[in-house]
Amino acid sequence: MVEVPLNKFLKKMFSWLAIGCPQRQSHIRLINATGTLTRNMSTQAKLELDGKQFSLPTMVGTEGEKALDVSALRASTGYITLDDGYGNTGSCVSKVTFIDGDQGILRYRGIPIEELAEKSNFIETAYLLIYGTLPDAKQFKHFSDLLAEHQFLHEDMKYHFEGFPTGAHPMAILSSMINAASCFDEGLMNWQWGKLRQFDVYVAKLISQVRTIAAYSYRKSHGLPLIYPKQTYKYTANFLHMLFSMPYEDFELKPEVVKALDLIFLLHADHEQNCSTSTVRMVASSQANLFASCAAGVCALWGPLHGGANQAVLEMLDQIHKEGDDGSKFIMSAKDKNSGKKLMGFGHRVYKNHDPRAKIIKRACDSVLEKLHITDPLLDIAKKLEEAALKDSYFVERKLYPNVDFYSGIIMRAIGIPVEMFTVIFAIGRMPGWIANYKEIMDDPKSRIYRPRQVYMGKTINPYLGVDQRGK
Ligand SMILES: CC(C)(COP(=O)(O)OP(=O)(O)OC[C@H]1O[C@@H](n2cnc3c(N)ncnc32)[C@H](O)[C@@H]1OP(=O)(O)O)[C@@H](O)C(=O)NCCC(=O)NCCS
Repeated sequence: MVEVPLNKFLKKMFSWLAIGCPQRQSHIRLINATGTLTRNMSTQAKLELDGKQFSLPTMVGTEGEKALDVSALRASTGYITLDDGYGNTGSCVSKVTFIDGDQGILRYRGIPIEELAEKSNFIETAYLLIYGTLPDAKQFKHFSDLLAEHQFLHEDMKYHFEGFPTGAHPMAILSSMINAASCFDEGLMNWQWGKLRQFDVYVAKLISQVRTIAAYSYRKSHGLPLIYPKQTYKYTANFLHMLFSMPYEDFELKPEVVKALDLIFLLHADHEQNCSTSTVRMVASSQANLFASCAAGVCALWGPLHGGANQAVLEMLDQIHKEGDDGSKFIMSAKDKNSGKKLMGFGHRVYKNHDPRAKIIKRACDSVLEKLHITDPLLDIAKKLEEAALKDSYFVERKLYPNVDFYSGIIMRAIGIPVEMFTVIFAIGRMPGWIANYKEIMDDPKSRIYRPRQVYMGKTINPYLGVDQRGK
């Protein structure tokens, strides 16, 4: 009998659980190279509970990822699994993105992120993620035309922007306004996936309008006049135009700046079943419309442990700089659990090796700063911190490496994007991944509403007390 490693908590909770793998039994689900679920001869897990034996089908993904299929566990045994933080739980079968966190591999639809970063652009990559293949020239033109056609918001949405106070966080405005867009579109209000004829149009609307909303949210939070998108500008250039132009003067679009921002969007375009993507899938599973589901993703992304980390990294570097520290004092406090500090931009739930995006972004960061002739003391601090952490046993033992957020903030700062917009940039970039995951849920005829279970540890039956009897 081969014991399958279980997380500590699961071991404690179910110490009587024994899982074994007898040789060559049937009822196993294997995914073949085309990603279709098939039954095949292979391994089957055995579970012994309360003196009875149960079989659990296993499955293997196209990249060899192994899983126990527990979908019938409760019905056959009365038990559920418990996995705090979902570190051992596969919530779906997906064909969008592959990550091997131990080897530092990231691929969108099978294409390595390094190749996409070098040869593709954000819009082509968005198409790849959503529709599964790279577009041919005709498909790309059609997609670009749709994006240009749908970039304008309903004119009345401007009045909603006026309601937000100056100084409001752009992430709050972004999520509210993506959701509010549903009120201006009959198709979104009466969303029925089975009857939907124009998903392509809604994809284009969302990708295009999120950029317009994001730029408006920045303008609003700084009390600046709104700038309309230009039909002739490409996606990323248009965003910078809406962000920084003035009614009397267009922003000068430097190619290296446009390229760097496009790369940041591309590198953020998807990342498997992270917190915000899982949130989007969760909301989508209730058949909510595309905009509502992605607005929820924006909220999930906002937190400092997720998309908010890029802002937190810059704030951390700034603080270190202001205190005159070269990073060494900060590293000490990041290792001390009582300090309440962490080395932001370091560590990842999945990557236990270098985050491949971090490597690309570090190179891009050096190149942009050089081209723009910028020297940034925060970049020097970041490099020192990285060097010190990668030699420090605390970080080495825990396999904590720089993640994508560690250097992306420095690039954004160099190209003039204010710190409170960093997570918004991440949200624009992540939109194609959320849409691809939304589509995957909706296209699956077997998909069900997401509804996890829990182990209840609260009070057992507890009588209601009148107000005069309470606290006695
Ligand atoms: C990303 C992150 C949330 C992953 O969390 P996680 O998978 O739950 O990782 P864990 O909390 O289990 O980390 C394992 C250990 O490393 C420590 N650790 C993780 N990230 C750390 C960091 N950035 N600085 C200092 N210690 C860190 C944890 O305290 C824990 O220590 P312990 O084993 O002594 O208790 C976490 O690494 C983090 O908070 N990083 C900083 C925020 C960030 O950059 N987020 C962006 C992610 S793309």
